[in-house]
Amino acid sequence: MSFAEVHRENYRRQANAYGIDADFVSEMVDGFYTKVRNDPELGPIFDQVIQDQWAVHLVKMKQFWRAIALKTGEYHGRPMPAHLKLKNVTKEHFTIWLRLFDENLDEVAPSPEAKAFFKDRARNIARSLMMGMFYDPDEDLGARP
Ligand code: HEM
Repeated sequence: MSFAEVHRENYRRQANAYGIDADFVSEMVDGFYTKVRNDPELGPIFDQVIQDQWAVHLVKMKQFWRAIALKTGEYHGRPMPAHLKLKNVTKEHFTIWLRLFDENLDEVAPSPEAKAFFKDRARNIARSLMMGMFYDPDEDLGARP
């Protein structure tokens, strides 16, 4: 086994010890997007893009979170361009997104460690998406000399 394989193996074992496995990821993703779809602000934004492809989106999001939490290597997408094209999304929408994400974890997480793990990852990714979507360095750099 290579060093990388040993690392992935240990990472997965630790996640499993926290109660994080594929079944939990599936439950977490289903629960979260049920909240999203029922939210008066976020629901319409997602529906507008995803339309009748919710089953496809949920499969993708389960792959995404398994890739992060279980190092399965299943997700090779690029989240930034997918969000940059959502022109009607605001910072306030991100606040709602994260609140619903945390709320869902409070309901379904198998352990405090699992809860902290996913809240932390989601917040970090939200921050990086927000940087890409809402920060324009040229505003601070001023006009070109
Ligand atoms: C207000 C906040 C957000 C909104 C409105 C939003 C909305 C969406 C929508 C509509 C899509 C589908 C894009 C498409 O199929 O073309 C999408 C994809 C995705 N979102 Fe978000 N999102 C938000 C925040 C986040 C956050 C914080 C994360 C991660 C923690 C995330 C992870 C993803 C991923 C991984 C995809 C799939 C990208 C791909 O590979 O196609 N999103 N999002």
